[in-house]
Amino acid sequence: MRIFVGILIVSIFWFACQPQASVGPNGDLSAIPYKPIPLELNEPGRFVKMQVFEDNPLTEAGVDLGRMLFYDPILSRDSTRSCSSCHLQAFGFSDTTQVSFGIENRMGKRNAIALTNLGYHYTQFFWDGRVASLEEQALIPVEDSLELGTTWEEVERKLREHPTYPIAFRAAFGIENAKDIDRYWVAKAIAQFERTFISANSKFDQVLDGKATLTAAEERGRLIFFDESEILPTGECAHCHVGPLLTTLTFFNNGLDNTDQALRDVGLSLISGNEFDRGKFKTPSLRNIALTAPYMHDGRFSTLDEVIEQYNKGGHYSKNESPNIRPLGLNESDKADLIAFLHTLTDTSYLERQDLSNPFLP
Ligand code: HEC
Ligand code: HEC
Repeated sequence: MRIFVGILIVSIFWFACQPQASVGPNGDLSAIPYKPIPLELNEPGRFVKMQVFEDNPLTEAGVDLGRMLFYDPILSRDSTRSCSSCHLQAFGFSDTTQVSFGIENRMGKRNAIALTNLGYHYTQFFWDGRVASLEEQALIPVEDSLELGTTWEEVERKLREHPTYPIAFRAAFGIENAKDIDRYWVAKAIAQFERTFISANSKFDQVLDGKATLTAAEERGRLIFFDESEILPTGECAHCHVGPLLTTLTFFNNGLDNTDQALRDVGLSLISGNEFDRGKFKTPSLRNIALTAPYMHDGRFSTLDEVIEQYNKGGHYSKNESPNIRPLGLNESDKADLIAFLHTLTDTSYLERQDLSNPFLP
């Protein structure tokens, strides 16, 4: 208790001695010191080091600002929704509903993608790969009428007039005046924060690092998943869900629909203009997959049992269906083991990471 009181007194004293940062007349920020501190990522050895972008290097203040913006409903028209409304940390930064709901409960068109290890995707974000970078992606939800439903002019005005955001933008990017706050700095800060979304501490990671062992059922599931057994049937999963990210990050028709017929969502072909891309979608990571239901771009499956059943049947044949989608012949215990393996991809430490949590909550 005495130590606690001591710390309290010291910290009050420390705070009292800090120069009070405040916005000068006409939004002038030049009197506030700008001393960016590079942020060192805690990258797992099994990952290829994240490429750093010269035009948006990670700094402590940049990531802190991005975290605030990600959680702040100031980015929505009626201050009810933020990025975090559809990307919930407890569910691996995915949403729990089939499609997501924006302001005024407007119903979206697709299932929210779980956000993990985003800094290792260098291009083609979204289910149809339509944006090239995290910076570009972060500009979209604000003006999407089914998501945050406002305009950037309005958000820029609110941030410029805010009592503390101008100071945070100064600390992150060294801007001289609050009127220089614009959407591109917002996007940069959010992208910096997202590059810290590293998840690599699931049971499966611990097994690869020699710190844990799989149960017999999980191990059989692993063999099926990676096609490593002579005796068990193969799941063909690792053709597409492989490597540290558990995805090739490429686009496939995994047999959900007959893509030769009319489709509600044509996926990649809308962007590429290529008929052969009809019904192809970005292969999602399977990290934290036990927590990110519902599944697929349209959230059509609510359980992993339904997903495995679909793959086991071999999907719906159509011209561009991947040849790795075919009837698998998994019996009930094979299916259960495969699901047991998928559960080892859950990284609870990621869901509890304080530095990724809502900074506005006590
Ligand atoms: C209303 C719900 C909603 C809100 C709000 C929202 N998202 Fe999303 N997010 C989605 C959905 C749905 C998708 C998939 C959309 C698609 O593919 O067309 C998605 C996809 C993404 C992706 C692509 C991931 C990948 O692997 O390709 C990123 C990154 C992302 N969101 C970040 C954000 C950020 C940053 C914000 C805030 C500025 C935000 N989202 C706000 C629902 C939402
Ligand atoms: C040919 C490539 C391919 C193969 C093989 C494959 N997948 Fe997929 N998987 C995908 C694609 C692409 C999607 C997204 C499809 C969509 O939403 O339209 C997906 C989606 C999923 C999802 C839903 C993920 C989410 O976040 O919604 C799960 C779970 C999954 N796959 C597990 C498996 C398992 C288990 C296997 C092996 C039995 C497997 N996949 C085989 C390409 C593949």
